[in-house]
Amino acid sequence: MKLLVTGGAGFIGSAVVRLAVARGYEVVNLDALTYAACLENVAEAAESPNYAFEQADIRDRAALDRIFATHKPDAVMHLAAESHVDRSIDGPGDFIETNITGTYQMLEAARSYWTQAGKPESFRFHHISTDEVFGSLGAEGQFTEDTPYDPRSPYSASKAASDHLVRAWAETYGLPVVLTNCSNNYGPYHFPEKLIPVVILNALAGKELPIYGDGSNIRDWLYVEDHADALLTVLEKGKLGRSYNIGGENERTNLELVQTLCGILDRLRPKTPSSNGEGVGHNAPSYADQITFVTDRPGHDARYAIDPTRMREELGWRPSVTVEEGLEKTVQWYLDNEDWWRALQDRKGVGTRLGVKA
Ligand SMILES: NC(=O)c1ccc[n+]([C@@H]2O[C@H](COP(=O)([O-])OP(=O)(O)OC[C@H]3O[C@@H](n4cnc5c(N)ncnc54)[C@H](O)[C@@H]3O)[C@@H](O)[C@H]2O)c1
Repeated sequence: MKLLVTGGAGFIGSAVVRLAVARGYEVVNLDALTYAACLENVAEAAESPNYAFEQADIRDRAALDRIFATHKPDAVMHLAAESHVDRSIDGPGDFIETNITGTYQMLEAARSYWTQAGKPESFRFHHISTDEVFGSLGAEGQFTEDTPYDPRSPYSASKAASDHLVRAWAETYGLPVVLTNCSNNYGPYHFPEKLIPVVILNALAGKELPIYGDGSNIRDWLYVEDHADALLTVLEKGKLGRSYNIGGENERTNLELVQTLCGILDRLRPKTPSSNGEGVGHNAPSYADQITFVTDRPGHDARYAIDPTRMREELGWRPSVTVEEGLEKTVQWYLDNEDWWRALQDRKGVGTRLGVKA
């Protein structure tokens, strides 16, 4: 089976590419290589004869038509997007253009290719989206696939719009689609502007560990390699036209998450007592001492949580990694892969506070 994966040089797309190639799929990775991309992420897959790369922008219809005609994929896994909420607050235009117009161009290119191929029922357009389209939860409840959409940031609104377009192309033109809406991912190759890598890398650099607001916002964390496995499961076994919520079953407040990361770092890379004698003797110094509370993100959603029943009962899928195991593997990965993250720290906006303009 040949997959056309968009955004395959990004964080989640590259996990999909690595896993799919390892499982014997043929993979064409289509990516514009924006600031968020890194071809290093797919270096191991790029060795395989089953892998091809196409640098292209999903808004460029002519390029998309050429890529479909050249590679003749059996399925599309559409992950290419602008993905950082804070950047969407500072500059929503790119999110509208890539996430909405780009998805429209992908749908039209896929529809044209699929129509010319005789509309095979086996074709799939798998749209990868976020649980943020459902808005913000209070202390109770979880998002199901039937939760009404209520996006609250330019990022989540643009992803909600793209979800609507995909469903419309299925209803109107019969394009065979599946959709997934997933909770927050973390793991290896996470771009160093997102919360977990920021905390690990600031901790190691002796910098403040910024927590937005009071740190009480709750997210449901999923290890990225579990997400990639879930996506291939939905592609293979998901019912046509259906959407699936994918979660980690791991709700944590941001403060709890950062404290857990500090505890792991304290074990794996203990801080040395400072030269002024602080931390010598009774209490060893902890990275948690670097935690700092900063101005909250405007419109910061309080809580996201996924009801995983459909994935579990229809497709027999559940995450394999607990948040404790996943965070430990992630911290170890950043400790072992300094060359990877150092090279990305020079990119525009990385290491600065974004998304406070509103
Ligand atoms: N990160 C999360 O926690 C999370 C959770 C749920 C869903 N998602 C969704 O999963 C997908 C991937 O997220 P990610 O975190 O890997 O994002 P990412 O920002 O790490 O990667 C996005 C990739 O898309 C590429 N891209 C951006 N604009 C493009 C364009 N116009 N044309 C072609 N390529 C372009 C980038 O170069 C990059 O390689 C997104 O659709 C996102 O909405 C992410």
